[in-house]
Amino acid sequence: MNIRKITLLLFTVFCIAGIRAADVTIQRSTLVGNGIVEFIPTGFDKNKTPSLILKEEPKSIGNVPAGWSLVPEFTVVNNKANAKLKISGDVSLYGGGEVTGPLLRNGQYIKLWNTDTGAYGVDGGKRLYQSHPWVMGVRRDGTAFGIIFDSSWKSELYSNSTEIAFNTEGALFRVYIIDRESPQEVLKGLAELTGTIQMPPMWSLGYHQCRFSYTPDSRVREVAETFRAKNIPCDVLWMDIDYMDGYRVFTFHPQNFPDPRALNDDLHKKGFKSVYMIDPGVKVDNNYSIYQSGKANDVWVKKPNGEEYHGKVWPGDCTFPDFTMPHARKWWAGLYKDFMATGIDGVWNDMNEPAVNDNELPENMRLGTMPYETPHRGGGDLPAGPHLLYHNAYGRLMVEASLDGIKAAQPEKRPFLLTRANLLGGQRYAATWTGDNWAGTEHMKLSVPMSLTLGLSGQPYSGPDIGGFLNNTSGELWAEWLGFGVFLPFVRGHACAGTNDKEPWAFGPEIEKTSRIALERRYRLLPFFYTLFYNSHKTGLPVMSPVFFANPKDLRLRTEEEAFLLGEDMLVVPSFAKNPTLPYGIWETVSLVNGDMQDKYQATLKVRGGSIIPAGKIIQNTTEKSFDPLTLIVCLNEQGKATGKLYTDAGEGWSFECGDYGLLTFTAERNGNVVNIRMSNKEGKRKIEKEIKTINAEVLLNGKVYKGTGSLKSGIKVTVN
Ligand code: GLC
Repeated sequence: MNIRKITLLLFTVFCIAGIRAADVTIQRSTLVGNGIVEFIPTGFDKNKTPSLILKEEPKSIGNVPAGWSLVPEFTVVNNKANAKLKISGDVSLYGGGEVTGPLLRNGQYIKLWNTDTGAYGVDGGKRLYQSHPWVMGVRRDGTAFGIIFDSSWKSELYSNSTEIAFNTEGALFRVYIIDRESPQEVLKGLAELTGTIQMPPMWSLGYHQCRFSYTPDSRVREVAETFRAKNIPCDVLWMDIDYMDGYRVFTFHPQNFPDPRALNDDLHKKGFKSVYMIDPGVKVDNNYSIYQSGKANDVWVKKPNGEEYHGKVWPGDCTFPDFTMPHARKWWAGLYKDFMATGIDGVWNDMNEPAVNDNELPENMRLGTMPYETPHRGGGDLPAGPHLLYHNAYGRLMVEASLDGIKAAQPEKRPFLLTRANLLGGQRYAATWTGDNWAGTEHMKLSVPMSLTLGLSGQPYSGPDIGGFLNNTSGELWAEWLGFGVFLPFVRGHACAGTNDKEPWAFGPEIEKTSRIALERRYRLLPFFYTLFYNSHKTGLPVMSPVFFANPKDLRLRTEEEAFLLGEDMLVVPSFAKNPTLPYGIWETVSLVNGDMQDKYQATLKVRGGSIIPAGKIIQNTTEKSFDPLTLIVCLNEQGKATGKLYTDAGEGWSFECGDYGLLTFTAERNGNVVNIRMSNKEGKRKIEKEIKTINAEVLLNGKVYKGTGSLKSGIKVTVN
């Protein structure tokens, strides 16, 4: 049979099967940023596929550069739009957001449909809580590209050795392709299109202790007191759903949490902050003011027949705000005013896929969420559309509304919001965690590639439930997990109802000691983490990076997913990593706390030759001063030089946006036996000299540590031999 006959046969088969496939031409391609091209397919309609991913509408800045090679091919099959991009086999693929399975994503398949999937499998394929239609490819020479498929329709994303494919169940969408000299530059491009995280309050970089649930409030106080009595650093205690009155959001349990203001005040006095959970489901209850108010304001999602949509969540039958409607978002934002006024510091939005319990239905009829055809009414920039379009954006629209409300309620403070569901670009609104994991070694190991992949997908602020949420946790697992978990961007221990106690002291004195050391190491590195978060806020680069960022040309490193980098200057090797592939060059091991190198559960920390890491002293929480003294950990390169940065500001509030910050550059240079370390540049108006009086320097050289002391003004001299 010749080609024409085969084509005719295929066409006949498709027609008989009722499938209509058509290639779609590109209506317009244009340069919208340095090395960023927008592709608009013919027939694209913003009213069918609005962009919920980009931070703003991109503007054309010129023509597609000559020689541009990455061009998507669009098709429509049976009214469903797809796009694919041809690739050659030796590209390493990353991204896809919140996924299980390996860091290297070649050959992986993911369904983009936000789903409440507790105890998810570790080897990929299972749906999780978020959707990131984003792939990054790194070529052999270390140059890289990234693709945004700008659609929230239900879809699937996969690759094989010849192509990357994105198939949707909806209308045509735009594609953005970034082609730049390195993966880091590609991630900056992603941030140019989708935005970066807000600068977090300093306290949110400390340790968070959570449980489903600490109740009554006396138990919360007891946990707080135990941290302080045992000198185990901690900044935040979390209130899971049991603080509510019958799981009604924005209420407090009259017996168990009778006076939230007093509780929050007590926590503040002890140097703690509090985070409270808010779910989207609102109990259907005619005597409940939030339900009444939502009804009066016509904010609920309705069924096609116009009745309220009801789905079961913790309180039983619930209604759900239709967050696509601007007036519903505004109404929701307004609910935070009185709530935050009780002294709440941060908010946790959960179950916002949205998750619905329909277990009473036969298995093949369960959706775990609203029916696909459920209408959303839209408004403003958003058209009316079915749940199939808006499902993946439901959590992201919820956190947009929550963030507005929190900021309006506490305009002088930086918000902290954690969300379970989200969409690519949603880092603009909230931090995230990797959902209901399992207390087992495989999930512990998985938490590294999961957080790395989120960081490679625009979301730098993430971490797992340390210790594992579901299942009982052994002391050994807790210690091993915390030993490297303290170096993840978001550090929170959490535990499901019915499981054993999982506080740092719950596993006996040995593990308590290990936990203290691990947390003290985190707290010593807070100045470094804060600097990394600032960098992330400014550029979109991850806080925690894959090891191959140390040298994107070194192909050995492309699959390393046990060890990871902080920024690009510190390497973390978890105790479980038996044979990690590490970058070549000078990397000196550093001790941060007495006994850390002897403790088998602690991760090994290495500093890159050529860098200076700022560290503080051990503190119990971030209301204490970190910088008396400041320590500079110096590791010289082959030329005997090093450089590093320290960012500091008030730790809270917005004065940093008006220049009240210090961004200091330190440089070190070896002359003979003396290493001179000095501040070589200072940006910002903050009076840093008042905060940083003494500086200790530690020069790491050939396995030894050489110490010296000085000040910002005098610099520091360290003699080595
Ligand atoms: C969900 C969350 C979990 C929380 C629980 C109770 O399962 O993922 O973190 O503890 O709900 O609110």
